[in-house]
Amino acid sequence: MAFDNLLINDKDRVRTITVNRPDKLNALNRQTLLELQQAIIEAHGEDTVRVIVLTGAGDKAFVAGADIGEIRAQSAVEARAFSAMGQNLMSLIQSLDKPVIAAINGFALGGGMELALACHLRIASDNARLGLPEIKLGIMPGFGGTQRLLRLVGTTRALEMSLTGEPVAAEHALELGIVNQMVASDKLDSATTAMAGKLATAAPEAVRGILQAINQGADTDLKTGLALETARFALCCATEDMQEGTSAFLEKRKPEFKGR
Ligand code: COA
Repeated sequence: MAFDNLLINDKDRVRTITVNRPDKLNALNRQTLLELQQAIIEAHGEDTVRVIVLTGAGDKAFVAGADIGEIRAQSAVEARAFSAMGQNLMSLIQSLDKPVIAAINGFALGGGMELALACHLRIASDNARLGLPEIKLGIMPGFGGTQRLLRLVGTTRALEMSLTGEPVAAEHALELGIVNQMVASDKLDSATTAMAGKLATAAPEAVRGILQAINQGADTDLKTGLALETARFALCCATEDMQEGTSAFLEKRKPEFKGR
């Protein structure tokens, strides 16, 4: 499907989805949310896509938030639907069984930070700033930010960032564990490609098992999480890729996983 507000690029089993509204710092209006939902479903459905990268067009912003003009024009009923739409998109991303990497190339604010938090891995350029500034607009996060930030950094930092609305620089986000890596802005593409390349050549069943065990495990009790881990571990052991990975180790060569 063709998109008005997204750019799609495929290379070496990695699909890059770029939010493309640079004149609005890639703010998420309703149409862009719908397009992102469609693009994620398509990427999920295509066997040739092993990894998804989300990023923003231009050199200033990943995504500077939900579209403030649209928020302002909404009734409470419409706002509830808008929040549900955003939350559904973020939950879809988080629950995907293909890894999603956020390449954060500048401002990741409000809905932009919420989008990044829904991804499985986050790489930030050194000029990135991440935050939940909704409070400054008289509102609060509505795309899952309070819940995902809380689970990532705990109540102390989540309350501070949400109540003050002050963004943190990439370096601080790295210290807080909000991002996995920080790189110079001219190295963001290569760092993202390197990370995506590793995941794209890994055994897909193992990748799926890890994503499910950790994502669902975060929201469940230890006993249930351990049972899930055992089930997924056993499934990995039924694959040709397990035979290939263990043979390659014993034969002192690189494995070539086929996704079978
Ligand atoms: N929604 C709608 N439009 C947005 C936007 C958003 N979340 N963020 C930026 N824009 C638009 C601006 O209105 C401006 O449009 P214009 O040129 O038609 O006036 C354009 O993007 C460029 O933004 P500008 O504010 O001029 O850039 P800046 O470099 O001075 O400031 C930011 C950058 C990110 C600090 C600032 O744009 C900002 O604070 N944005 C809102 C962040 C926010 O509150 N997000 C949460 C929303 S719920």
